[in-house]
Parts: sequence; structure tokens; C-alpha cells
Amino acid sequence: MTGHCAPAEPGVARPSETSPAAGRNPTQRVLRRHGPGLTPGPVRNGRGSIVRRMTEQRWDPDAYLDSMHAEIPMFDELQQRAAAATAGDASRLLELGVGTGETARRVLALHRDAHLTAIDSSPEMLDRAKELFPDADLRLARLEDPLPSGPFDLVYSTLAVHHLDGAGKRDLFERVAAVLRPARRFVIADVVVPPDPADRQIEIDWVVDLPDTLEDQLRWLRDVGFDATPTWTFKDLAVVSATRRGGDSG
Ligand SMILES: C[S@@+](CC[C@H](N)C(=O)[O-])C[C@H]1O[C@@H](n2cnc3c(N)ncnc32)[C@H](O)[C@@H]1O
Repeated sequence: MTGHCAPAEPGVARPSETSPAAGRNPTQRVLRRHGPGLTPGPVRNGRGSIVRRMTEQRWDPDAYLDSMHAEIPMFDELQQRAAAATAGDASRLLELGVGTGETARRVLALHRDAHLTAIDSSPEMLDRAKELFPDADLRLARLEDPLPSGPFDLVYSTLAVHHLDGAGKRDLFERVAAVLRPARRFVIADVVVPPDPADRQIEIDWVVDLPDTLEDQLRWLRDVGFDATPTWTFKDLAVVSATRRGGDSG
């Protein structure tokens, strides 16, 4: 793995911490480069890191699945494990970063009578999801924006939360707790920084891809009122089930 894409060693500053843009939201940097409201440049289907797709190319819903299969070993298993972690009674669902709906179709298969609200910052990805889920409330919005009003019975997210830095993740977890009913679940399936560097299998750029360790994310979830536990891990992938403390499920 090259230094360009390797996660930072403990005690070594990541590029985003040493650059003048440190602390800013990475996609804000993208927007500045391309102009507010403009979509980053031409689509390219070749293999590349998630960051290059986000910074130089617009998300391409046609190429998305092939590119995920190339870049994320066990992508399908991650999706299945994420959906399985949502099992149980839930009628109002919120997905964060719905993309083309890869997770949503698996989750809705387990919650056939549920209503889905979902957000994503890519109009192209969202348009594809709208074709699949015409009855869902799909909104063009960022994870950093105020979340749709709850209360929700289930909130879940696959491969989107890692686009936020640590402070952004903590802030998001707190806002999720505020829109989730007590005793209900927040499921996160994503890339993490593994304890053993040998387990780094996914190319990370540290500009737009900003994974944190599983332990940090469990702690941040617990700090804002969740009982959080991993339901599945494989190298640098993890699924976390976080149940909001307090009350009953009503
Ligand atoms: C790797 S895709 C995952 C899509 C879907 N969850 C899945 O599992 O197939 C990441 C998605 O997150 C969205 N995304 C990235 N950063 C975001 C942000 N800050 N706010 C909202 N959506 C974001 C992208 O537009 C993209 O659709």
C-alpha cells in the first residue's frame, strides 16, 4: 500500500491534519474547487479510490456497483450483514447516504410495510434510488445538514459515514440519537481503521475517505446515549448495531 492511500500510523499526522484545509469538511473543499453547487468533473469508470471518484468525478450510478465490487472486498456480504442487523419491528426508517439503494432494497425486504426516508448528497445516485423506491421520501441533503424530523424506528447507513471526519461523525451520532426513538437501533456498516495495519484492504485517500477506528466510533456512540456493539467485522469493514438507551420502543 502506498503512502498516498495508507491510513496514518499511530502518532503520525494524517494529510488532512497537516494541510491548510485541516478540519474542514472534505466535500466543502471539493465544492470550493468546482464552485458552489457545481458537480465535479467527468465520469470515469476505471478502478480508483473512493476519494478520486468524489473529488474528480461525479458519482456514476451505472458504474457504481462494478466499482464497489472492485474496490471493496466482501461488498455484498457487508450489505447483507448491514441489512441483517436491522431485523426487527420498524415502520419508519431513515437511511443516511442511500446512494443507488443497494442497502435500502435489502433492508426493505426485511421491513415490507415500512416507510423509507433517505438522504444523499448526489443527485445522480438519488435519481437512481427514486426509480427503485417511488414511494420513499428521498431527499437531496448532506449528512452534515439537519436530519429529517423523526421520530424514526430505525436509522441505518452503509459506506457513507466514513466521509465525515471524527468530529463530524460524533456530531452525526448525536443528531441521530435525537431523531431515533428510545430503545431503537442505529446500524452503521462501513470501512474502519483496523487495529492491525495488515488488515487494511481498502484504498483510502484521507481527503474524502476519513475512516476512524471501530473503538473510537463505539465510544462516540456510547457517549451520546447508545449501547453500541459490533455485529460483524472483517479486516477494515465493520457493522455496528447501536441501540438508543432509555424508554421503551413505543
Ligand atoms: C459508497 S456510496 C454508498 C451508497 C449506499 N449506501 C450503498 O451502500 O451502496 C456513498 C454514498 O454516500 C453519499 N455521500 C457521501 N458523502 C455524503 C455526505 N456528506 N452527505 C450525504 N451523502 C453523502 C454519496 O453521494 C454516495 O451516494
